[in-house]
Amino acid sequence: MTSVALLGYGTVGSGVLEIIEKNSRSTLQTYDEFINISNVLVRNIEKHQNNKHFKLFTDSYEDILSSNCDIVIEVMGGIHPAYDYIKSALQARKHVITANKDLIAEHGDELIALANKFHVTLNYEASVGGSIPVIRTIKESLAAHPIKSVTGILNGTTNYILSKMYNENLSYDNALKDAQDAGFAESDPSSDVLGFDAARKLAILTYLSMNKVLKVKDILIDGITNLDEKDMIIAKQLGYKIKLISKAINYDHCLHAFVKPVYVRSNSMYGLIDNEYNTVAMDLEDIGEMHFSGKGAGKEPTASAIYGDILDILLNDKKVITPKLKQVKICHYAQGQHDWLVRLYSLNQPINLEKVLKFFNHGNIEIKDFADSHDLSFTITDISENKLFDIIHKLQDLNVISVSKYFMIL
Ligand SMILES: NC(=O)c1ccc[n+]([C@@H]2O[C@H](COP(=O)([O-])OP(=O)(O)OC[C@H]3O[C@@H](n4cnc5c(N)ncnc54)[C@H](OP(=O)(O)O)[C@@H]3O)[C@@H](O)[C@H]2O)c1
Repeated sequence: MTSVALLGYGTVGSGVLEIIEKNSRSTLQTYDEFINISNVLVRNIEKHQNNKHFKLFTDSYEDILSSNCDIVIEVMGGIHPAYDYIKSALQARKHVITANKDLIAEHGDELIALANKFHVTLNYEASVGGSIPVIRTIKESLAAHPIKSVTGILNGTTNYILSKMYNENLSYDNALKDAQDAGFAESDPSSDVLGFDAARKLAILTYLSMNKVLKVKDILIDGITNLDEKDMIIAKQLGYKIKLISKAINYDHCLHAFVKPVYVRSNSMYGLIDNEYNTVAMDLEDIGEMHFSGKGAGKEPTASAIYGDILDILLNDKKVITPKLKQVKICHYAQGQHDWLVRLYSLNQPINLEKVLKFFNHGNIEIKDFADSHDLSFTITDISENKLFDIIHKLQDLNVISVSKYFMIL
């Protein structure tokens, strides 16, 4: 018999309890193990008094520590007190499973070291990509092949909003409201729409796949709040979609990581991932690209990832291997040449196209929209991000344009 304690009984916690109830007998038949819930920790115990499992509920963490549970599952969220609870569970030699990407992105290396010290496991599959078993795959199956880059659509909320803007011609505000009504966005969606949630997941994936410490502050983050209907119209005209892409690239001399809206071909692997779905692609030495896709969040997918983490502990009864982490130099721009969609605006006088073109290599530019003389859109090929950034800033300094945005084309 394996006994687990739940810290939190919200969307994910209630899903974990249900999935354990539903599957524990079949797990018993397959693996000779029965999974039992010892306690459930909540903040407001009154709220749960009609729950049929109420006798398991407590609002005291001491009850969890003093119970005979083997595994503590943290699904409360936030950094504090989750961080302190996980630390004391590990020190009490209990295995820990968490879905908390904020915590793992911030304190993952320290907690993994602690798990190692006390010879217990810390699993966090549900913190990235919901039902997609990407973390275990990286840890166990891909260890022999260095990973050159990891790319993903890692946030279901923003992907849902972008799909609505694209498919139903909704404004950003209306698409956000739709996502909130459908339960895909929180009432305060800032962590999702500003790109921080995806950045935390990218930091976790980079840490695992490249053994490199990537702090969220070193990721170039641009969310989706500045996208408008015209960006979508231009994308459609060109046969592209706009996706919030998270990418970390392992160059020889530095690591570059970003979360930003990117133009992707509508029929490409990324273009086909719509609504609340997530995808992760890894480019491996000697093997090439590998893709994983599935539902990125929600009660069942997240609970299923946690159940996988429980079985992983039951089957392997292993400790965590701490990768030899390397500190890296961060480069702030993508290296090499890329294609871009550029939008330049002038708030005062109309844009002087001739002046703009003087700064670019004409052969590489194709004007896509200039119906409004204050708003110019063009594609430009084979130019480095560094150079593009410099030119745009020169145009701004010379007052030829006032504002700009540019999107990488993948
Ligand atoms: N929701 C998703 O789809 C999803 C997907 C992937 C990962 N995650 C991660 O999973 C975690 C949980 O998310 P959720 O959506 O299930 O959250 P939620 O619905 O807000 O539930 C949080 C639960 O934790 C309890 N709790 C919060 N603070 C507590 C404290 N200080 N002491 C004791 N109990 C406390 C709450 O107690 P009360 O019931 O008494 O309020 C509640 O039961 C988060 O880290 C989140 O990022 C969520």
